[in-house]
Amino acid sequence: MTVPSPEPVRSGPAPLLEVSGVDVRFGGVQALQGVDMTVPAGTVTGLIGPNGAGKTTFFNVVCGLQEAQAGRILLAGGDISGRKAYQRARLGIARTFQRLEVFGSMTARDNILVAAEVHRRWARTGPDPSAEADRILDLVGLKARAEEQVDAMPTGLARLVELGRALATAPKLLLLDEPSSGLDESESEEFGRLLTRLAADGLGVLLVEHDIELVMSVCSRLYVLDFGRILAAGTPAEIQRDPLVRAAYLGVGDQAAEEIAGVG
Ligand SMILES: Nc1ncnc2c1ncn2[C@@H]1O[C@H](COP(=O)(O)OP(=O)(O)OP(=O)(O)O)[C@@H](O)[C@H]1O
Ligand SMILES: [Mg+2]
Repeated sequence: MTVPSPEPVRSGPAPLLEVSGVDVRFGGVQALQGVDMTVPAGTVTGLIGPNGAGKTTFFNVVCGLQEAQAGRILLAGGDISGRKAYQRARLGIARTFQRLEVFGSMTARDNILVAAEVHRRWARTGPDPSAEADRILDLVGLKARAEEQVDAMPTGLARLVELGRALATAPKLLLLDEPSSGLDESESEEFGRLLTRLAADGLGVLLVEHDIELVMSVCSRLYVLDFGRILAAGTPAEIQRDPLVRAAYLGVGDQAAEEIAGVG
């Protein structure tokens, strides 16, 4: 007689995000295959991989914009796999988009204020939206540019507006899809400090980013996706040493690949 193996014993609360066995196919393209991932609260977790690896598709699955053919998604231990995107947003998942999505004809402040007002309406509690918009503008470093129309801003700053709008929904989990593109080196460093501060305040951040220096400096754990599969997971130091990662990145020969492999 076989003895059933016991359920693994967990110490402490469930992780913020726990994804298991996610498959997504687009016709003949297997965009994700058996993807497992855990994102704890209070840390920045990185998701890296070559172009077309499936990073954005994974974000879409987690936030409910893309249906998966298989897999399970737990948020703070509760199964949200069958929930719609707006329900997941209310449960505390916010994101930014690789192809920036902001209200371009509105000011930075109004973009954030709209989200703070919508959040206040759902939540029926929380801070005054106007005061919250000002707090967030200050937090993301846009206080001095609050009244500028977003279409007239450089892309890097417009991305901070989008981040501010995501934060105005008071998320528990924040998914950032290449947030630093368009920022110069010192702005990227400042952005890294902001992510570290957000995580220290308890937010779980999942960061997709091609800026390897930023990824290595802010992430406590990294997942490497390649052709829709998790190729490796570990601390930045472990990932940098991993021969499979080096081979996959060197195979595509992009700049991030060479940097991660230490030959850039
Ligand atoms: N809506 C779609 N329909 C068909 N194929 C898609 C769709 N979205 C993504 N794909 C394909 O799925 C694969 C993964 O794409 P995805 O955009 O998730 O990659 P990525 O890792 O975000 O890439 P990048 O670094 O370039 O942003 C690619 O082969 C892509 O062409
Ligand atoms: Mg992408």
